[in-house]
Amino acid sequence: MDVERLRLDFPLYSSDERDLIYLDSACQTLRPRQVIEAMNEYYLEYPACGGRSVHRLATKVSIKIEEAREMVAEFIGCSDPSCIVFTKNCTEALNLVAKGYPFQRGSAVLTTDMEHNSNHVPWLQLRELGIVRHRVVRTPPSGLFDLEAYRDAVAADVSMVSMVHTNNVTGTSLPAKEVVEMAHEREALVMLDGAQSAPHQRIDVEELDVDLFTFSAHKMLGPSGVGVLYGKRPVLERIEPLVSGGGAVGMTDYEKVEFLPPPERFEAGLLNYSGIIGTGAAVEYLGAVGMDEVADHEASLNRQATEGLQDIDAISLLGPPDPALRAGLLPFNIRGMTSHDVAMIIDEMAKVQIRSGMHCMHPYFRSRGIDGCARASFYLYNTAEECERFVSAVRAVADTFSS
Ligand SMILES: Cc1ncc(COP(=O)(O)O)c(C=O)c1O
Repeated sequence: MDVERLRLDFPLYSSDERDLIYLDSACQTLRPRQVIEAMNEYYLEYPACGGRSVHRLATKVSIKIEEAREMVAEFIGCSDPSCIVFTKNCTEALNLVAKGYPFQRGSAVLTTDMEHNSNHVPWLQLRELGIVRHRVVRTPPSGLFDLEAYRDAVAADVSMVSMVHTNNVTGTSLPAKEVVEMAHEREALVMLDGAQSAPHQRIDVEELDVDLFTFSAHKMLGPSGVGVLYGKRPVLERIEPLVSGGGAVGMTDYEKVEFLPPPERFEAGLLNYSGIIGTGAAVEYLGAVGMDEVADHEASLNRQATEGLQDIDAISLLGPPDPALRAGLLPFNIRGMTSHDVAMIIDEMAKVQIRSGMHCMHPYFRSRGIDGCARASFYLYNTAEECERFVSAVRAVADTFSS
């Protein structure tokens, strides 16, 4: 992978801010000009409404949206584009399933103690309403998924396993294929929150045999405001729409409504056309680079940075010490400093952009008595030189401010 050549595609690196070191891609990535241009093209050349009017501009929008759907389907190994639903983000996709799936009263949903709030809060709500039981599989101190604890927890009353594929703080991934197989043996469905996996590794939903899979475009070079729900068709057909109205229905009269089949039944109202078209361009870009290459590049930067921080006594890493188990994430604390102070000072001193706080994983931090962490996240456009500057900056912060 030629990173220097790739960087020419990202406007930030040829702007006045080119010396910024952007290590916050797990929150939101930079966008290449191919994505920005695809989105601008919509506004400049065919800024009409899809799926309704029949004139040529509208027809072009409809075609472009379906092309984007096909590209997203191909990107995650799905052979039927009608199984791809566009939402406004991963959170909405997770909620769509939680709020719309016809759970039998008393059935249970299984999550982990490592969920992002977006795959935690909706289940708490359903639990409070008495719609489902909610059980949590605990993670051992190693930070790695405990397959045995999971096996015990997939009891007969579990109708859905809804788990984070790659965690957004520790970077650890669960063994998706085994998780799916075990759940299916007990006739439970599996939804994977792929917000941090789809941008960083090759995903094949059909090979995994996963029932539902969710992610956000803005974490994978796409625009903000677009998410994706993949679902097996018979599963999608059982889910009630979260939002209803124009575009999602066939015929209505004063008494009743007929919903369209998926994906339209879940896409009521005018859509974020430029965003969806930009999402198509983003997955096309990533597909051309190659997801295995992306994963290898991130792993090598993470190894370099982890090794670089190893001898700094004031630093404690979260998650497994082996960077190969943490995808592109490096979560850490500096003794005697809050994570927000670390992030602000490192930006002031060295223009390094990292995330800090609880990363929408409050239960994880509270249960461990930690008030957050700093997190560097690497992506395809980061370089070994940036990694070196990041390590020097953290060293300088630790030398100057740690207790
Ligand atoms: C693991 C995980 N799940 C879900 C989300 C929610 O994504 P979004 O805010 O795009 O809906 C995030 C966002 O950081 C995440 O990291």
